[in-house]
Amino acid sequence: MTSPKANPLAHIDWDYIEFYVGNAKQAAHYYCSAFGFDQVAYAGPETGVKDRASYVLVQNKLRFVLTSSLRAGDEITRHVAAHGDGVKDIAIVVRDVKAAFDAAIAGGAKSVLAPTEYRDAGGRVIKATIASYGDTVHSFIQRDGYTGAFLPGFVEQRKSIAGTQKPGLQFIDHCVGNVGWGEMDTWGDFYARVFGFSQLISFDDKDISTEYTALKSKVMTDAEHRVKFPINEPAEGKKKSQIEEYLDFYDGAGVQHIAIRTDDIISTIRALKANGVEFLDTPDSYYDDLEARVGHIDEATQVLRDLRILVDRDDQGYMLQIFTKPLQDRPTVFFEIIQRKGSLSFGKGNFKALFVSIEKEQEKRGTL
Ligand code: FE2
Repeated sequence: MTSPKANPLAHIDWDYIEFYVGNAKQAAHYYCSAFGFDQVAYAGPETGVKDRASYVLVQNKLRFVLTSSLRAGDEITRHVAAHGDGVKDIAIVVRDVKAAFDAAIAGGAKSVLAPTEYRDAGGRVIKATIASYGDTVHSFIQRDGYTGAFLPGFVEQRKSIAGTQKPGLQFIDHCVGNVGWGEMDTWGDFYARVFGFSQLISFDDKDISTEYTALKSKVMTDAEHRVKFPINEPAEGKKKSQIEEYLDFYDGAGVQHIAIRTDDIISTIRALKANGVEFLDTPDSYYDDLEARVGHIDEATQVLRDLRILVDRDDQGYMLQIFTKPLQDRPTVFFEIIQRKGSLSFGKGNFKALFVSIEKEQEKRGTL
């Protein structure tokens, strides 16, 4: 056992999430106008990056990068052709990239980029990248007090959209991967070996199944519960698991959803709805016996019913959550908005209500 002090992946946090998309310029506008992000930086031909355009969006501690290729046949173009718009890089900030990378490789990770130093007027950043499930990667980022716009190669370029409601999204709570049949344990072990993560919780198909669909899930976390990676795999049901539908449309394993924390989910969801964000619906009956199921909550049931916000409780407290519809045409990646009031849970009690709702959407697409 390595002590927390010796572990190069102790005290880690999210740095950014990079999406590869078909048209980053338009996607940036969507995430800013619908989700209230501000654009802060840009890289592209005008900044000396010839083959791609990248837009950096921030909101409180959230940082997303949207990248499109400017060329036929390169890695980004192939990624988008295979997967549609999706998450490429879940980047983690670490104190020592070389130590983190060496530990990851020793744990069996495959190198995508060995530790590399990038410099500009803002100072230096060291970056290394390892492969994870599917075509998803993790970059380790060491900033050493870097003061530039985002990373060397990027310039400050600020843009906000007037009239957009600010929903108060705060930071990433967890980021979920869907992997193939029987691969959940393999990837759970990967995060144990490569990141030194431990298992927080697991669900099997008895917990997470409806009449038709089933999945298994395991949550891997760092010691401080800041970076949490739930891993889902499909399980046998009467009809196609929603995880299998994802794997078909994404053409393999990838990020299923990013859960984003808020301090006030009611005002957040009101703002997002005013901006035009679409959420999964929940059967009205879910709210009929809500307090009987989850006990006393501070929020008025009628308000939660109007907004279709879900509630779950564990022995530590309760949490409120809601899921967006897919963020692109393929039924693949989506957001969860979550407010925790003590609870560490991932909404096990809501899986069933949620699945019934997802199945209704699957039925509309003819893929159930
Ligand atoms: Fe989640």
